[in-house]
Amino acid sequence: MDCDTGIDDALALAYLCSLPNVDLVAVSSTPGNVDAEQVARNNLALLELCGRPGVPVAIGTRAPLRIPLVTTPETHGPFGIGYAELPEPHGQIQAVDAVELWIEAARSRPGELTALLTAPLTNFALALRAEPRLPELLRGVVIMGGSYFYQGNTTPTAEWNTHVDPDAAAEVFAAFSGLPEERLPVVCALESTERIELRPEQVAALAARAGCEEPELLAPEQTEGRRSTASNELVRHLSDMLRFYFEFHRRNGQGYAAHVHDYFAASVAVGTATYRTRTATVHVETASPRLIGTTVADFRGLWGEPPNARIVVENHPAEAFDELVRSVGGLGRR
Ligand code: BDR
Ligand code: CA
Repeated sequence: MDCDTGIDDALALAYLCSLPNVDLVAVSSTPGNVDAEQVARNNLALLELCGRPGVPVAIGTRAPLRIPLVTTPETHGPFGIGYAELPEPHGQIQAVDAVELWIEAARSRPGELTALLTAPLTNFALALRAEPRLPELLRGVVIMGGSYFYQGNTTPTAEWNTHVDPDAAAEVFAAFSGLPEERLPVVCALESTERIELRPEQVAALAARAGCEEPELLAPEQTEGRRSTASNELVRHLSDMLRFYFEFHRRNGQGYAAHVHDYFAASVAVGTATYRTRTATVHVETASPRLIGTTVADFRGLWGEPPNARIVVENHPAEAFDELVRSVGGLGRR
């Protein structure tokens, strides 16, 4: 997994940790929601909290390929984890660069590994530069990024991950151009991920499954910054993250709920989600100041260029919530 943890990245990570049959090979940390060092600290702390302290955590790039890094404290909090105060991790960040780690892992287990990419695509673009055979070496690639019907969440038309590093996103899609359909990345764009709108009721159900209560998340008179009192540590930290995320979405006029984009991408990567895709040729705008980071998908071959992506066009929110409550709630119970 490559992520910029990030509240929904954290949920995705907890979800992967909750699945006993998932071999989480490594977690690489890309700057995006917060800087790369903070992402790596969050990843280490979360893996320890979720009972997977041995999973290697690495850092690659510290900045997007060409443009300066912009972070988003208003969405994910100053440390990327909302109101949560995660314990100081015991583990260390790997000395090896994340890009080398990716290449080494893919070469040593050809055809076995799935890349789950829930951050700007900078590290993955650098890995593709160094090892152009990466698309063939991997079993699959799942990307959270883009928006294909011109509704962004960062600018009027651009989604956050593609907006932070449009050059990397453009390079990644170009690298898959013309490959057989089964090799094309599965892309979870806003049209599918914004349907996975988590609500306090679902957090309460997750807490109940973990064997505790989380009443404050349901209170209508939320006080910004109030901390969870759940008896379970994992539930407490996830609640403190999600409360911040709910408040952010409410400030944006989206109601007291949160789009958990990266969790959905994780469920696609591990094969628990049912969904339908359509192939398309994706273009990422890298130049026009107003449109930078905007993704345009040609579903009908009008450009006469081969497809480079499979975009999720149908997914099932109820199924996604059931799976989350069962699995992450179950992790809390362990
Ligand atoms: C994406 O942007 C980030 O803030 C989230 O973690 C997610 O990966 C959604 O646009
Ligand atoms: Ca993310």
